[in-house]
Amino acid sequence: MSEREAVNINYLYQKKKEGEKISWLTAYDYPTASFQEEAGIEMILVGDSGGMTLLGYDSTLPVSMDEMMVMTKAVTRATDKTFVVGDMPYMSYQPGKEEAIKNAGRFMGECGTDAIKLEGGRRMAPTVEAIVDAGIPVIGHIGMTPQSAAQLGGYKSQGRDAQSAKELIEDAKSLEQAGAFAILLEAVPSRVAKMIYDQSDVPIYGIGAGSSVDGQLLIVQDILGLFELFKPRFVKRYANLGEEMVDAFNQYIEEVKSGEFPGEEHCYKIPDEEFREI
Ligand code: KIV
Repeated sequence: MSEREAVNINYLYQKKKEGEKISWLTAYDYPTASFQEEAGIEMILVGDSGGMTLLGYDSTLPVSMDEMMVMTKAVTRATDKTFVVGDMPYMSYQPGKEEAIKNAGRFMGECGTDAIKLEGGRRMAPTVEAIVDAGIPVIGHIGMTPQSAAQLGGYKSQGRDAQSAKELIEDAKSLEQAGAFAILLEAVPSRVAKMIYDQSDVPIYGIGAGSSVDGQLLIVQDILGLFELFKPRFVKRYANLGEEMVDAFNQYIEEVKSGEFPGEEHCYKIPDEEFREI
């Protein structure tokens, strides 16, 4: 494990005060989280996006609490200093406060996360307040909220007219008043994100919200080139691991067919005298 400082809520507030941006990525498995820990990524979101990028569902709606638990436990096993956030899946908090507290508690108690995240603004403020009252740190997520895509008319950026921008600002205020210790803005115009940032005392993070926020989140498969079904405008690709995987698989197939693999160095040996005795 790395020697860097452990990330906790005090660290996140200190970095906000100092104007240092926070690096945040998703992860859903042990190896990815280990490499992120080694690299010094400060926050990991075990997002319900893992339902699509890792489990192959065509939306985040089918992802269950049990599936989130498996992915989240793999990530917390790999991390020590990184701040891990569990993402409340669809219908794990919408039915009511009691259910929400119980499921948020499973992330904290059984998985060892540092906080949970849930989608929704004003409508979710009473639920956020109840979870915070139970002693659980909450990040509110507003803007393009995939669990409400049907209501939003699809996966569309939000806050692009005056009315919806005002609503986003109200959402952020309600979440902060409800006790959310940070807010994540997804797919909102940079200028609207800056207005929210300017009016908030809590850290404001963005995924597709421009640079005037306290830190950036991206989905790990998007930056590594491991998810090809769609590519939102805000994604920057840092590697093409999908292509490298296909190249490696093709080379393996060729070498198996041609007999080039396995070579002598991949084979176990038995001494000649032992072999003669068989
Ligand atoms: O599940 C997820 O990865 C998310 C991000 C898209 C914000 O919620």
